[in-house]
Amino acid sequence: MKTTGSQVTIAMDGPAGSGKSTVARRIAEKLGLLYLDSGAMYRAVTLLAIQEGLEANSPKLIDRVKACHIAFTDNGKTILLNAENVSVQIRTPAVNRRVADVAKIPEIRREIVEHQQRIGAEGNIVAEGRDLTTIVFPNADFKFYLDASVTERAKRRLAELKTQNVDATLAAVEAEIRARDEKDTTREHSPLRTADDAIVIDTTCKTVEEVVDFIVEHIYGSEAC
Ligand code: C5P
Repeated sequence: MKTTGSQVTIAMDGPAGSGKSTVARRIAEKLGLLYLDSGAMYRAVTLLAIQEGLEANSPKLIDRVKACHIAFTDNGKTILLNAENVSVQIRTPAVNRRVADVAKIPEIRREIVEHQQRIGAEGNIVAEGRDLTTIVFPNADFKFYLDASVTERAKRRLAELKTQNVDATLAAVEAEIRARDEKDTTREHSPLRTADDAIVIDTTCKTVEEVVDFIVEHIYGSEAC
């Protein structure tokens, strides 16, 4: 495995529903690495804004974000906002609708990116989101960009919502994903884009295991290079 010294940093980006969270989590388990869900951090500060009745562009929100404490436990599966487990609350439709507006504020991004870089400073991490391959870990040992058709991504989200007993239609989920894609790819600061040196994987017709196996084989295959 080609790495920076004895540590490895794997960065993954892609739009909502591309499978990157599930794939990154499996790879972390398989390779014994730390898992970083960067989207959960933007979701947590969005929850903070909702709880405190603050607009995304409110200067007060930036102060609150600077003062808040975000931490992960259970190897990234549980997120704590000011010591409270908010893992379920950050996945609500209200947060889905507002998160892209909060995530486009440069001062908020700066705080969160610094936090992510501190978490990843020791290496041995799989980190996923929208700017991990381009901004947060531009020197990652391995970079992947996962994508899938918007309908397939909406179907995956709908199936996930059904398991949580959340009522939604495919059309509504697809519209929400399209709106978020548009905001994430066109924003001024750190828009979602494919890094020049990232390997692009279209997951539309692939199972999670197929994608995981491809990535793991690529990582170990590079040992021979
Ligand atoms: O990955 P997830 O869908 O949970 O991300 C929620 C939102 O957080 C994204 O739609 C995007 O607006 C924002 N985000 C971001 N940069 C990241 C990760 C997520 O702007 N690295």
